[in-house]
Amino acid sequence: MTEASLSPTAPSPADSAPIDLRVQLGRLALRNPILAASGTFGYAREMAGLVDFSLLGGILPKTVTKAPRPGNAPWRTVETSSGLLNSIGLDNDGIDAFLELHLPYLATLPTAIIVSIAGRSHDEFVAMTAQLDGRPGIAAVELNISCPNVSGGVDFGTDPALCGRLVADCRNATRLPIIAKLTPNVTSIVTIARAAAEGGADAISLINTVLGMAIDWRKRKPLLGNVIGGLSGPAIKPIALRCVYQAAQAVRTPLIGIGGIATIDDVMEFLVAGATAVQIGTANYYDPTVTTKLANALPAALQEAGVKQVSDLTGTLRK
Ligand SMILES: Cc1cc2nc3c(=O)[nH]c(=O)nc-3n(C[C@H](O)[C@H](O)[C@H](O)COP(=O)(O)O)c2cc1C
Repeated sequence: MTEASLSPTAPSPADSAPIDLRVQLGRLALRNPILAASGTFGYAREMAGLVDFSLLGGILPKTVTKAPRPGNAPWRTVETSSGLLNSIGLDNDGIDAFLELHLPYLATLPTAIIVSIAGRSHDEFVAMTAQLDGRPGIAAVELNISCPNVSGGVDFGTDPALCGRLVADCRNATRLPIIAKLTPNVTSIVTIARAAAEGGADAISLINTVLGMAIDWRKRKPLLGNVIGGLSGPAIKPIALRCVYQAAQAVRTPLIGIGGIATIDDVMEFLVAGATAVQIGTANYYDPTVTTKLANALPAALQEAGVKQVSDLTGTLRK
C-alpha cells in the first residue's frame, strides 16, 4: 500500500468533521473495515476494472496450500434458498506458484493483502507462514483452519489444543500479523476463539461456511460431487452474527465478522455485535462491486449511528 493511496478518513455527509474509518486488528492497521473474503475474489486480477481497490480495507486472495490441489469433483456449487453451497476443495496452484504468479500483481494494489493459507499438518502451516515472512506486499496471514471441503481441513478449528498451539507456532514463525479463521461447525465457538486468542492471534475471523447438503430426490442423488459442502450467503448471517457476538463476550482479540454480508445494514450489525472489521464473500458473486459500494456507504451509516470512528460502534449492542 502506498502512502499516497491511504485515505483514512472520509468526509462525513452532514457536517465537516471527518469520520475516522481506520481500524486496528492487533498489529494490522487497515484504512477501513471492509475486506473481500478468501475464495470469493479470485486473486483480485479477475476484479480489476470492476473494483476500485483503493476503497477497500483489504483483500484476501483464495487460500493457498503447500502443494497444488485440483479441488473436488463437480458439481462444486449449488444455489439454495438465500444461500450458496460449495465444495470447491481448495483448488489452487500451491504456494510457490502463488508467490511467483499472483503476489507480484497483488503487491501493486493500493490495499492491504492478507494471504490465506491452509496446511495439511501443523508443521506445514508453520512452514508456509515462515515462507511468507518478509515478502514485500503481504500485510498479514490468515490461517484457514476452517475449510469443510478438504480432509482434515477443520481439525485445527475444532480442537482447542491444536488450534492454540498452531496459532502460537505460526505467530512465532513470522513478524506478520496472524489471523485465525474459525469454523461455525463446532459445539462452542467460544472455546475455539479463546484458544486462538491465547495462541496470540492478532485477530480472529468468523465464520467460514456452515456444513450443508442439497439433494435431487427424483434421481436420489446429492447435488454436490462431494455430497456435503459449505453453506454461505444471507442464509448464514444470523449464525455468523451469533458467533461474533459470543466470541466478543469471551475474548479481547479483535474480530472480523464474515457471513452473509451484502448491505451496509449487515456491516453495521456485525460491528454492533462485536466485529472490528468485516469480510464480504458470496455477495461478490452476484455483485462484484459490492465491496466498494459498502465502503462508500460506511461514512453515512456511521454518521447516522452518531459515532466519529468505526471502533466506537464495535460491541455496542444494548440488551
Ligand atoms: C465458492 C466459495 C469458495 C470459498 N473458498 C474459501 C477459501 O478458499 N478460503 C477460505 O478461508 N474461505 C473460503 N470461502 C468461505 C468465505 O471466505 C466465507 O468465509 C464464507 O463464504 C461466509 O461468508 P459469505 O456468506 O459472505 O460468503 C469460500 C466461500 C465460497 C462461497
